[in-house]
Amino acid sequence: MSRALNQTTRAAELYARALELIPGGVNSPVRAMKAVGLDEPLFARRGEGAYLEDVEGRRYLDWVLSWGPLIFGHADPETIEAVVAAARRGTTFGTATEGEVELAGEIVDAVPSVEQVRLVSSGTEAAMSTLRLARAVTGREPFVRFAGCYHGHADPFLSEAGSGVATLGIRPSGEGRVVPYNDLEAVEAEIDGAACVFVEPVAGNMGVVPPADGFLESLRRLCDESGALLVFDEVITGFRVARGGAQERFGVLPDLTVLGKIVGGGLPLAAFGGSTQLMERLAPAGDVYQAGTLSGNPLATAAGLSVLRRLTPEVYGELEQRGARLEEGLRDAAPGWCVQRVGAMATLFAHPGPVRNLDDARASSSERYGELFRGLLGRGIYVAPSQFEALFLSLAHADGEIDMTVAAVAELVA
Ligand SMILES: Cc1ncc(COP(=O)(O)O)c(C=O)c1O
Repeated sequence: MSRALNQTTRAAELYARALELIPGGVNSPVRAMKAVGLDEPLFARRGEGAYLEDVEGRRYLDWVLSWGPLIFGHADPETIEAVVAAARRGTTFGTATEGEVELAGEIVDAVPSVEQVRLVSSGTEAAMSTLRLARAVTGREPFVRFAGCYHGHADPFLSEAGSGVATLGIRPSGEGRVVPYNDLEAVEAEIDGAACVFVEPVAGNMGVVPPADGFLESLRRLCDESGALLVFDEVITGFRVARGGAQERFGVLPDLTVLGKIVGGGLPLAAFGGSTQLMERLAPAGDVYQAGTLSGNPLATAAGLSVLRRLTPEVYGELEQRGARLEEGLRDAAPGWCVQRVGAMATLFAHPGPVRNLDDARASSSERYGELFRGLLGRGIYVAPSQFEALFLSLAHADGEIDMTVAAVAELVA
């Protein structure tokens, strides 16, 4: 089905050309928008604040925000200035730089369990290296993770990873023990001999699924009892649900933390960290290899620093208030649907709720969600083109943007 409002010109031309040059026409599968019944991606030209403009000049209120990094919205002037100033000094050096040390300092200051941090270029890389470190430290190979949690596209993480990922070509192995989210008995049954438990402390990749009361605390206890390391993948939740991520919000400290998205201020940067004792196992301090040509890139560290330095308690107070307004609005607007939110991330499921795990999430109607998505897009509102993703609030989304979205949802699901 074609996008009704897109019988066009530039986007259609670009897409035809993209299909010739790039597999499926996109550089990451979810951009293809197939999950919501469209056959053409959105070609963005520019963004400003909460708004995105496509190549036809159409404007959309953007709730995707590049899948989460843009906590101050698109083209945030302070971030841009920091990046431009850094670029003028050189785009990459392949040496140590001051910016890396400063960004590491900001991260360690913010994230309660992190004493040392290694900067990398993507969340996938950060998760992959964290697993390697956990295996090296414990001398164990298997690990426990949760159906519906996504930790990037490295082989060990991909079966039942949510977001509709396929598993062809992935090295088969029994190393990842996949259990239902929020199911402690299943963890207990699988944790023996595991190197680590990898978890999104608030799941964001099957839609937003909060941890059940006591879930994270119990994971901590089970890890301590079994000698497995507890790994929080805070690529989405880091600097979003609190400055110190979910570990600050829920008061449970993991052994290792994976960060991405906001930490790079919208440029390709991610990180992983933990206690000095664990992190000093990494080369060149220790014997676990990990490296990267562009790791700690000066443009990305400048962007990250510019963002992280402005994340004050007031920012989180504001995001919480706006999140609550969105949640209440959507709940009233869409009876029979279910809104799940933690801080500045939320999902509207076409499901009566509650959604506690991947099976529940899969029981929501993709058809109804697709209809809602297309209706919203037609009204100039761009939400995640898949039910199994989140709406991301930024400081650029004011009450007006929230109310406009709620009104459109009310009209469309009535
Ligand atoms: C929780 C989580 N971990 C890891 C990743 C992988 O990050 P990247 O896409 O930067 O490789 C993602 C990406 O969305 C994510 O949501």
